[in-house]
Amino acid sequence: MTSLSPHGGILVNRIAEGDRREKLLKASRTMASIKINAWTVSDLDLIGVGAFSPLQGFLNEEDYLSVVSSMRLADGTVWSIPVTLAVDESTASKLSLGQQAALVGEEDGVVYGVITVDSIYRVDQQEEAVKVFKTKDVEHPGVKKLYERSSLYVGGPIEVVNRPKPEKFEEFYYDPIHTRGLFKERGWNTVVGFQTRNPVHRAHEYIQKSAMEIVDGLFLNPLVGETKSDDVPADVRMKSYLTLLDHYYPENRTFLGVFPAAMRYAGPREAIFHALVRKNYGCTHFIVGRDHAGVGDYYGTYEAQEIFRNFTPEELGITPLFFEHSFFCTKCGNMASSKTCPHGRESHLTLSGTKVRGLLREGKCPPPEFTRPEVAQILIEGMRQHISV
Ligand code: ADX
Repeated sequence: MTSLSPHGGILVNRIAEGDRREKLLKASRTMASIKINAWTVSDLDLIGVGAFSPLQGFLNEEDYLSVVSSMRLADGTVWSIPVTLAVDESTASKLSLGQQAALVGEEDGVVYGVITVDSIYRVDQQEEAVKVFKTKDVEHPGVKKLYERSSLYVGGPIEVVNRPKPEKFEEFYYDPIHTRGLFKERGWNTVVGFQTRNPVHRAHEYIQKSAMEIVDGLFLNPLVGETKSDDVPADVRMKSYLTLLDHYYPENRTFLGVFPAAMRYAGPREAIFHALVRKNYGCTHFIVGRDHAGVGDYYGTYEAQEIFRNFTPEELGITPLFFEHSFFCTKCGNMASSKTCPHGRESHLTLSGTKVRGLLREGKCPPPEFTRPEVAQILIEGMRQHISV
């Protein structure tokens, strides 16, 4: 069994409570302040609860440069995605090293946290784009987001003083400390984590259930933070997961909890990041299928699996389970992949995301070999309510 140790050995807790929180809140009134958007609020909170262990805050320059160039923090710990805080020039001019600054929600004015500034640095965003996203194409949604930010970053440890309140599905928000406890309570020694930003179609179900045959439990952990506008909205997806679990999964072997992070679309590097974060939530295994966290044609089908070869099993501390492109084979009469099916492509049912969205928009169910009918119904209804789906 893989060790259940969080990444870096200790589950980080940077949530200020009681007197400490009061003290910080009071002090924040006279501190310099940094406006943060919803994406950064979610990063802040995930650092605070230890989902991003061993990060104690936003990356300082040394860690940033090391993560971008070699997928490791400066101390050598594997870390593949730069989690950073961008500020504009005028905000930066009011900050000084060693001082605290309040992190304030740009939309609601809430003081979410406090950072102790230990680094203010200018980055080369093209270099970051090429290294992290493997492209500098502005059409790439992750690169686009990157270029929209200032290239001036602030690093340092944070403390959270107010947690963001989920708008919906609050009962499915668990911190790593809770999921770890819940998996233990259920007696699960091995847990496979599943990342998704999509409804669970039959291919997803097939790889989840293949994994479930060899572990004690499935942690279905859909990402519900910011995604690109043509992804299915999180509330519609949540309804579809609940329906699917209800009809097709054994209750005592599955656990649904959301991952409130933003989607980066960084493909291979994000697969490593997703795996490490699920380790922090208490998973021993993590599913990486075809083009994990990919978008368009920026990454090779199995690049997100190949990248794991750069690290030893010990330094990852979570076992990736790789799955090939899966589909329904009409000749086999079941779900399969090229590892298990001898038939040609003409027997394989695969539909593109665009095609599926097209069918749903017309109020038509995709074939049951592609999507469970109960799930399709939820998606069709969701389409009617969200024009952008
Ligand atoms: S992701 O951006 O969150 O990776 P998605 O929700 O589509 O997108 O995928 C969730 C997981 O299922 C990923 O590990 C992905 O590689 C895998 N996956 C999706 N579709 C297939 C498929 N047809 N065959 C094998 N794996 C798949």
